[in-house]
Parts: sequence; structure tokens; C-alpha cells
Amino acid sequence: MSDLTIKNLCMQFSGVVALDDVSFEVKSGEIFSLVGPNGSGKSTLFNCINGFHRPQKGKIQYRGQSLTKCQPHEVVKLGISRTFQNLQNVPYMTVLNNILIGAHQRITLKETLYRWLTTAQREREEAMALEVMDFLGIANFEQKYLSGQPYGIQKLVEIGRALISQPYLILMDEPAAGMNDQETIEIAKIIGEIRDVLGITVLVVEHDMNLVMKISDRVCVLDSGHVLALGTPEEVKQHPEVIKVFLGEQAHA
Ligand SMILES: Nc1ncnc2c1ncn2[C@@H]1O[C@H](COP(=O)(O)OP(=O)(O)OP(=O)(O)O)[C@@H](O)[C@H]1O
Ligand SMILES: [Mg+2]
Repeated sequence: MSDLTIKNLCMQFSGVVALDDVSFEVKSGEIFSLVGPNGSGKSTLFNCINGFHRPQKGKIQYRGQSLTKCQPHEVVKLGISRTFQNLQNVPYMTVLNNILIGAHQRITLKETLYRWLTTAQREREEAMALEVMDFLGIANFEQKYLSGQPYGIQKLVEIGRALISQPYLILMDEPAAGMNDQETIEIAKIIGEIRDVLGITVLVVEHDMNLVMKISDRVCVLDSGHVLALGTPEEVKQHPEVIKVFLGEQAHA
């Protein structure tokens, strides 16, 4: 079954074509990776899916329902959450409270205020946050202020905030960026468990091709806003256009 359908999506910013007729489907239970050079439109696509941008053309459907006119909080309510390339953490709050922010993304401001006044609700959400922190292996950091914590921990908190809304589909924008080798191995394991243990479909943007090849069921390669290749990691790796784009990138590095 298809969870997410992107059809003929076009997005321009005053003449800059960020997405050019992009189409693909993410199946339920997949780990689907989106790769491509800097500026190829990966984050723009996430911003279109989660309601930050309104694409000029095309369709985005989640389990048959159109997302193209949804506000970000409505997208979360439908069961899609995301992490950000530039972390959206609040450094002067504890790890627990940073994760709890995600529990309030599904509800209105009035409901949020009511919930903060309701001890039982607050306790339920804290218990859920603890489960998420346990799952991510950061339960020891619960009452620590995020400021000053290692970058790897901050990246996990970003994931935790997306998980606490109990999504069916998670969008992860460069989860391994800035991570060392050991942390990248840990992230690969966590992404696998998000799908296998929590049963969440994963759409991930990543530059680390070793990680992408290891974790993905399918990979879509974007180049200058259009789909260059789409297939299994093996198929994509051998695609002549992909070799050209990625070898070209390395040659200019
Ligand atoms: N809000 C915006 N206003 C104007 N142009 C934008 C905006 N967001 C993205 N762009 C442009 O759209 C193109 C795609 O950008 P995008 O951030 O989606 O790329 P990306 O693939 O995520 O790159 P990276 O790997 O560096 O994160 C770029 O040319 C970028 O400058
Ligand atoms: Mg990006």
C-alpha cells in the first residue's frame, strides 16, 4: 500500500526552480531515501509535504488524502512528523521539555493550555516522553539542559520530538549530518528500529551514501529539482546519470 504519493510537484521561488515535476510514491513500511547534491530540492520537498510551502503545481497525497492545502499542524494531526536539517531545539530547556514540545504539535493552543493545567494529561505525556527517550537511549539526559550537550544528543532530541507525536510517517532531514562514525552507526540502527519496532514509515534525506545504501529499501535521486533516478540502492548505484552527478560532485570537492 502507498502511504505518500507525490505527483508532478513543481515549486519555484521567484524564478528559482526548486522542484521540477517530481513524482514518486513511498510505500507503507518502507525506508525511502531522498538524496542529491546541495540545492537539489530535498528540504523544499519536505517543506511542501509538511505544509510550510505551497507548491505551484502537482499533488501530495497521504493515504489518499490531499496535503497540498494543509497547515503544518494539520499534517502532524494526520500522522506525519518531521525533523529539521537545522535543529529546532530550545537550548535553555531540558531534554524532557524539548521532547514534550512535539506532543503539543497535534493540538490547538487552547487544548495545549488546558493540557498544561491537567495533571493527568501532563503525566501521560511525560510517560510517553520517557518511553521515547528510552527508545533513543537518552533517558539519562531527561532533566539536563540541552545547552552544552553533545551534538549527537541534540540530534536524538530532534528525533524524539518528532516521535512523541506518534506519527505513521516520519520525515528526517539529514539525521546523520555532523555525526561521527560511531554516532552514524547508532543513527542507522535507530532508523531501522523506528520502522521495525515502532512500525513507522520513514522518508529520509541524507548525504551519507554509505548510510543510505545500508538502510534504504528504495532511493530517489534529485538533481536540480528533478528526479534523476529511482530504485533499489543497487539499481541507483549503477545508474549512469547518478554516477556522473556524484562523481562530478567529488571531482569539485
Ligand atoms: N525559502 C526559499 N526562498 C528562496 N529560495 C529557496 C528557499 N528554499 C529553498 N530555496 C532554493 O531552492 C533550491 C533548493 O533548496 P533546498 O534547500 O530544497 O535544497 P537541498 O537539496 O535541501 O540542499 P542541501 O543538501 O544543501 O540541504 C535552492 O536553489 C535554494 O536556494
Ligand atoms: Mg536541505
